[in-house]
Amino acid sequence: MVYDIEMIRNFYASYRAKVENARKKLDRPMTLAEKILYAHLYDEKAMTAFRRGEDYVNFRPDRVAMQDATAQMALLQFMNAGKEKVAVPSTVHCDHLIQAYKGVKEDLPAACDANREVYDFLKSVASKYGIGFWKPGAGIIHQVVLENYAFPGGMMVGTDSHTPNAGGLGMIAVGVGGADAVDVMAGMEWELKMPKLIGVKLVGSLSGWAAPKDVILKLAGLLTVKGATNAVIEYFGEGTESLSCTGKATICNMGAEVGATTSVFPYDEEMGRYLSATGREEIASLAGSCAEDLRADDEVLADPASYYDRIIEINLSELEPYINGPFTPDAACPISEFAGKVKANGYPQRMEVGLIGSCTNSSYQDLSRAASLARQVKEKKLKMASPLIVNPGSEQVYCTASRDGMIADFEAVGGIIMTNACGPCIGQWKRVTDDNARPNSIVTSFNRNFAKRADGNPNTHAFVASPELATALAIAGDLCFNPLTDTLVNEADEAVRLDAPVGETLPAKGFTVDDNGYVAPASDGSRVEVTISPLSQRLQKLEPFAPWDGNDFLEMPLLVKTKGKCTTDHISMAGPWLRFRGHLENISDNMLMGAVNAFNGKTNAVWNSLNGNYEAVSAVAKQYKAEGIASIVVAEENYGEGSSREHAAMEPRFLNVRVILAKSFARIHETNLKKQGMLALTFADKDDYDKVREHDKISVLGLRDFAPGKPLSIVLLHEDGTTETFRAAHTYNRQQIEWFKAGSALNTK
Ligand code: F3S
Repeated sequence: MVYDIEMIRNFYASYRAKVENARKKLDRPMTLAEKILYAHLYDEKAMTAFRRGEDYVNFRPDRVAMQDATAQMALLQFMNAGKEKVAVPSTVHCDHLIQAYKGVKEDLPAACDANREVYDFLKSVASKYGIGFWKPGAGIIHQVVLENYAFPGGMMVGTDSHTPNAGGLGMIAVGVGGADAVDVMAGMEWELKMPKLIGVKLVGSLSGWAAPKDVILKLAGLLTVKGATNAVIEYFGEGTESLSCTGKATICNMGAEVGATTSVFPYDEEMGRYLSATGREEIASLAGSCAEDLRADDEVLADPASYYDRIIEINLSELEPYINGPFTPDAACPISEFAGKVKANGYPQRMEVGLIGSCTNSSYQDLSRAASLARQVKEKKLKMASPLIVNPGSEQVYCTASRDGMIADFEAVGGIIMTNACGPCIGQWKRVTDDNARPNSIVTSFNRNFAKRADGNPNTHAFVASPELATALAIAGDLCFNPLTDTLVNEADEAVRLDAPVGETLPAKGFTVDDNGYVAPASDGSRVEVTISPLSQRLQKLEPFAPWDGNDFLEMPLLVKTKGKCTTDHISMAGPWLRFRGHLENISDNMLMGAVNAFNGKTNAVWNSLNGNYEAVSAVAKQYKAEGIASIVVAEENYGEGSSREHAAMEPRFLNVRVILAKSFARIHETNLKKQGMLALTFADKDDYDKVREHDKISVLGLRDFAPGKPLSIVLLHEDGTTETFRAAHTYNRQQIEWFKAGSALNTK
């Protein structure tokens, strides 16, 4: 058994009493998210009615999951924490470092070879500290967690922004940086601002081409990429019961794209069926016995507007398939309007590749519905117009889909089966095109579609849709094809229409797997050696960051003023750079290389105040660091949107950038900056962004009196000798100010 059943029995034994205690304290009915949050307080005695969106609260999560790209830095930090063993069940999943090129048979051995040093390191650290290890090819972290570890009412953190996927199984699952994961693994409290609550009522049921993915694609359009920041999205209404457990997980997964802290569904029969189908009948029975506290109280459901901060209603029966993009996941468009959008914007109409899979959409149900379309290619005498790439979510899904003929269905239409891993979703795609400079379009069932994310090519227009729609568009090869209304011409010159996809939520013959890829830790970890070669280019021991010197930051050169979106992909690019995720010095060479310089519209070309040249951002920062000069970055809205990678905070810290001054921050990234001892400040008046000039020297004043809720002063010294002063706000609490003073959160342990 890969999970700790005793821990789960103990959890359910006390869950209802904890919820009851919280209900008394709050003296009102509770939502589901509140029940789970209050049942996981680090110190139950400190319980009070926490103010949503304001109070920082300490929690005690039940488990931790880490993917290989972020686990390296998390475990390097954990090794410095002086513990013998992790305090809560934890796992590492090798899914991000595997490149998709020719297919699983060649790609997986090649990845094992190329990443051997990192895999050996992760495996040995996992073994030493009591952490479960899922080897390369075992599957994508969130699919594996859903299949094995998620449980209704539980709480987990994961070093990946799509950790909320487990909300499909009724869990509060939150994406965090490695430093947060280290706190939890060390048995310490995990701090989170008490989230606001967005209630999404689902009515009706899906049919035809509409898929669970379309719920969240529509919602992304309504909420935008930061509309749910510091909020939990809680689903309710009878429509929730019509969705499969894995469909619910898809919806929760992409809550990350609207900035949500997490998303959660109430416990229902579909969750029970999924738990049983994945060998966890006992958990289904335990959850069933406290089902009424695994959903919102009846009074809440009767009058949701009184209990949630915002309510949105979606009628599943009326929901159209959506296709979102390019370049941002909230550019939502129903399929009926999509052809018009493509033509109006001049997007490349030829659909060049369909990609299905990723942690968002790689369940048995997803593959079975997409396979039903692949089968129609032969039945209707059609030809695939574009290649189809498939990344199954786990070895269990792959083996079951293989037994049930779906893998053969994809291969029969030329589909390439890649490793059970992230692959193109994280830029690990060795794509071969005739001309990289040619604008081109792809459709994926992934969650993110930022520029360059899939193939590193800024000319690729990536759109996100359900796996069904991605497959249909690959059959047509035309972005303007609407399978609900349009016909295709087959080899017999007949006009044919694709039938709506059909599929099973769970395999009728049960799941099957030969080797699920799990490696248990050593029973005696003290005997396991972890070695890091000082000559390694992939791994590097961490040196603590220096504490704050007690002075204001004076006349720092502006390193870069970024314009527009600046996601963690822009700050610390993935793709080939993933190989340096365990080596802070080497990965720092990619710092902010994707960010657009507001003064010249270019990426990775910023003014160097030491020599007047335009050079790469990291090159300039390195020269400043060598001269003992601290620098500052200025940015627009939702800085650090996207992933949980703390490299996006550690790289600037390492290169002596001390301050990020932005119009606003994404939640995980703001925490990561604080944990690494950076100053994450926001413009009190967003128009002050416009005052910052390229050659400015910028000071941050008031640090000696740095206190919660107290603004700091920014002084711009312009090149002509004039100055401008304005206020900068922040969200640091007392503890976080101590992290800043100590140089990092880790330094305070
Ligand atoms: Fe992997 Fe993409 Fe999910 S990188 S964890 S498949 S968002």
